[in-house]
Amino acid sequence: MTGNDVAVFQKGSDLIYWGDALNVLTDYIPDASVDLIFADPPYNIGKRFANFSDKWPSEEEYVKWCYRWLDLCIQKLKPNGSMYVMCSTQCMPYLDLYLRNRMTIKSRIVWYYDSSGVQARTHFGSLYEPILFAVKDEKNYTFNADDIRVEAKTGARRKLIDYRKPVPAVYNSTKVPGNVWEFPRVRYRMPEYEDHPAQKPEALLERIVRASSNPGDLVLDPFAGTFTTSAVAQRLGRKTIGIELEEKYIKIGLRRLGIQDEFNGERLKPLEKTFAQRKNGGLKVADEERPSQA
Ligand SMILES: C[S@@+](CC[C@H](N)C(=O)[O-])C[C@H]1O[C@@H](n2cnc3c(N)ncnc32)[C@H](O)[C@@H]1O
Repeated sequence: MTGNDVAVFQKGSDLIYWGDALNVLTDYIPDASVDLIFADPPYNIGKRFANFSDKWPSEEEYVKWCYRWLDLCIQKLKPNGSMYVMCSTQCMPYLDLYLRNRMTIKSRIVWYYDSSGVQARTHFGSLYEPILFAVKDEKNYTFNADDIRVEAKTGARRKLIDYRKPVPAVYNSTKVPGNVWEFPRVRYRMPEYEDHPAQKPEALLERIVRASSNPGDLVLDPFAGTFTTSAVAQRLGRKTIGIELEEKYIKIGLRRLGIQDEFNGERLKPLEKTFAQRKNGGLKVADEERPSQA
């Protein structure tokens, strides 16, 4: 898709826009209509997203571009809407400073993952990606704390008893997660894997969608990639909008969301994985241990 061209695909309450996020947000999405936005843009670190090259002439130009879509996203959010923004560790400070003057930042989240494959030997390797969670109105926003509880690991061997209660009872064994989230990155052998260099885990999106939206709400992802956000939101009964520039990923989205099983005469089939050993005796490194984005 080039220039201002936009193609729309829809089935039920799931919408895919094939085009540039800036154009689609400006021309197709009504102001104050979206409950939750998850934005995971290209990071300006030279990745290759099909035909799109993730490198701006300068950091300044990249950051200016980010400010343009951030402004549009804020405009499209409902007054009680929430936004989660991902970005490289080095650029996040710009987005943080920009957003804190326009929204209320509720959490600065660290998505942490382990890696045994690609290891830095000259510095401490990057094993996290930052996520900002911001709301338009800090007195009126959705946060379903009880829908995202996790096991509370107190370290105690036996269950702790709370003797302050009229009838002593076992302490809560679950808690609302803090701001360090550990989820494995999407690996080749995981069923959810698609052919994309920056696919985010469904588990991460599930926490976000459950916490910050309700069934029937509208969830938008301006840089949909493999349409993880839409797939998770659809499964959880939300309405979805995904915007993506590259045809290769549009085809993944059409299949993953069950919107179409055919595209321009091509059958849209799930990725065929091969687990055979490669010529050099090992598994494809890029598949098993993709270097992190940040
Ligand atoms: C970091 S990836 C998103 C990955 C996604 N969160 C997932 O789980 O698969 C960024 C995506 O933005 C797309 N993209 C780049 N520039 C764009 C633009 N101007 N408008 C819409 N999509 C764009 C890229 O093709 C890439 O798929």
